[in-house]
Amino acid sequence: MATTVKPFIQPSQAPAPRSKSGTDLIRIQGGQPLHGTIEISGAKNSALILMCAALLTEDTMRFTNMPTSLRDILTLTKVLESLGATVATGPEGTMAIQARHITSTKADYDLVKEMRASFLVMGPLLARFKEATVSMPGGCAIGTRPIDFHLMGFEAMGATVTLEDGYMRVCAPHGLKGADITFPRVSVGATENILMAAVLAAGITRIFNAACEPEIVDLGRCLIAMGAQIEGLGTSTITITGVPSLHGALHQVVADRIETGTYMIAAAMAGGQIRLKQASTEHLQALIAPLQAAGVTITQDDSDIIVERSGPLLQGTTITTEVHPGFPTDLQAQFMALLTQCQGGGQITETIWENRFMHVPEMARMGAKITIEGNTATIKGPQALTGAKVMATDLRASAALVLAGLVATGTTTVDRVYHLDRGYENLEQKLKACGARIERIPAETP
Ligand code: EPZ
Repeated sequence: MATTVKPFIQPSQAPAPRSKSGTDLIRIQGGQPLHGTIEISGAKNSALILMCAALLTEDTMRFTNMPTSLRDILTLTKVLESLGATVATGPEGTMAIQARHITSTKADYDLVKEMRASFLVMGPLLARFKEATVSMPGGCAIGTRPIDFHLMGFEAMGATVTLEDGYMRVCAPHGLKGADITFPRVSVGATENILMAAVLAAGITRIFNAACEPEIVDLGRCLIAMGAQIEGLGTSTITITGVPSLHGALHQVVADRIETGTYMIAAAMAGGQIRLKQASTEHLQALIAPLQAAGVTITQDDSDIIVERSGPLLQGTTITTEVHPGFPTDLQAQFMALLTQCQGGGQITETIWENRFMHVPEMARMGAKITIEGNTATIKGPQALTGAKVMATDLRASAALVLAGLVATGTTTVDRVYHLDRGYENLEQKLKACGARIERIPAETP
């Protein structure tokens, strides 16, 4: 009996398929090389903190290159609006935030639980209004996500910290005072929260063992444009001299290095040649070296990066995630997908988060051979992958599963892509424009 082969991409006249799982799905038919151009968006992990920084002034803050369609941006917009700020997004990634009329210094649990970075409103609220009450952010899939360093810093600057009904309340009725603060380990969020608290504190604050991530530098540059006095950005010691107030400014969000790295790995896996627009290799040296060793050609062409892999993928490598400028933990899952295709596979040791290997069992469903011992994963390669139904567990794991789907034989369906939508703008459209056979299956409307 002749079997009708269901076309992968539905003909326009057929009703679009619907996901019955209650959330959008992404479906990929593997095996297509990538050729084309991808616009890199503004960095999610910079955009979020910059939005919080707008609370530090009653003037309007204006941003460009803001990744306005990300779920996390929309969630933080709700948090800022719940405090009384106004947030207006315009075309081409423009955004204006005005926090002149703040009506509350309490960030509600229902919003903070959606996105832990909401906890970063604490520093600016405390600095400008001498108090803040924010729901404990809670953990997430990749770890317990403690905030003890943030609180230690606020206390060092003279704030009192109390926990009331699951809400952390910090008060400094006489204003914050500059202090020397040494973090026991590097923390991006704690550095950001204390940096924002210190810009309006009386006196000098020095942060030792500060994070050096590019997003911290981007935040610091924005604060300086607002009138803050900061030295040492990008180093492990940041010195802030407090000023009485900050004024509005215009700031362009730095390009997203994690999105850039994700697409570089996509091209390395699928083969072909892609041009990443408005992207920089500057912050990705820890990824570029192992990619080049695996046979990938990477060149900076003015403000674009060209990534090409025409020959076979060569040997894999061993990486350990570290604070910047080391290998970024936010590219760990994506790099693991690549290692399944490299000669000899490789090893990954995760040192930042205690539970960031949840993509491993999902990749195993596609045929990946990965064993875990403690915080080290050993990946066998090269290993042919086959399409399967897989489930996203966190933001970067979902990106890694899409990358695996690009090279798997057959069809891969990634469920719970709301994780993906938190941190990647139009990922399936950007890949489709480069020749990937990928589509989003919208959830069935109830
Ligand atoms: C930021 O999270 C990023 N998120 C994360 O990206 C990223 O993985 C992480 O930095 C590390 O680079 C945003 O910027 C919104 P940390 P953050 O404080 O600030 C421990 C993504 O995929 N720690 O640097 O929460 C903590 O448990 C996300 O885009 C404490 O012990 O990370 C962790 O082991 C995921 N006490 C380590 O430090 C504290 O008070 C690093 O955490 C704070 C942190």
